[in-house]
Amino acid sequence: MQFYIDSADINEIKEANKRGWVDGVTTNPTLVAKSGRPHHEVITDICAEVDGYVSAEVLSMDAEGMVKEGHELAKIKENVVVKIPMCEEGLIAVKRLASDGIKTNVTLVFSPLQALMVGKAGATLCSPFVGRLDDISHDGMDLISQTMQIYQNYDMDTKVLVASIRHPIHILESALIGADVVTVPYKVLKGLTHHPLTDKGIAQFMKDGEKFAK
Ligand code: G3P
Repeated sequence: MQFYIDSADINEIKEANKRGWVDGVTTNPTLVAKSGRPHHEVITDICAEVDGYVSAEVLSMDAEGMVKEGHELAKIKENVVVKIPMCEEGLIAVKRLASDGIKTNVTLVFSPLQALMVGKAGATLCSPFVGRLDDISHDGMDLISQTMQIYQNYDMDTKVLVASIRHPIHILESALIGADVVTVPYKVLKGLTHHPLTDKGIAQFMKDGEKFAK
């Protein structure tokens, strides 16, 4: 399973990358706005740090505008993936960008039928949002199992990128289901490496080590 970091903060992306946690990056307008920097500048900096796919989202709501923005974003570097919101105009843009050889990631997917339409349009990545479904009392991870099943049934090339991850159990369940990619906030990535028994064990070994060191 690939790990992407869900962030537009170049410092945390660099920290995560040092630790081997960054196979790619996803950004969205909310994350870029939080960085307080211009969109193209943020994506350019991330692409200088990361070789894997870097998703950059369009702001247009019509296919023509999305395709135009997509071409501009794709010029930044060959690893840029154009992030398109799930809607009919978005699927037109995905199909056109795919035929121009540009990679796409369809975002804000909340149902398995939306995911099926994303696969049919020929997107590179499909981003079902698990946390936001959990927030409204639906089981977000069911959407991942169903999407994986549909893509496998029809041998679709689109990869499932689990988005809106809030906690480690989302990642564990994604790995057990066999999802292709998870995109994870830095804070949650950091939490994955820790265990209280590890900390306790290290403290004991250090204490015992003092008895024979020097
Ligand atoms: O990749 C999409 C993700 O950033 C959305 O996460 O926590 O805002 O639902 P969240």
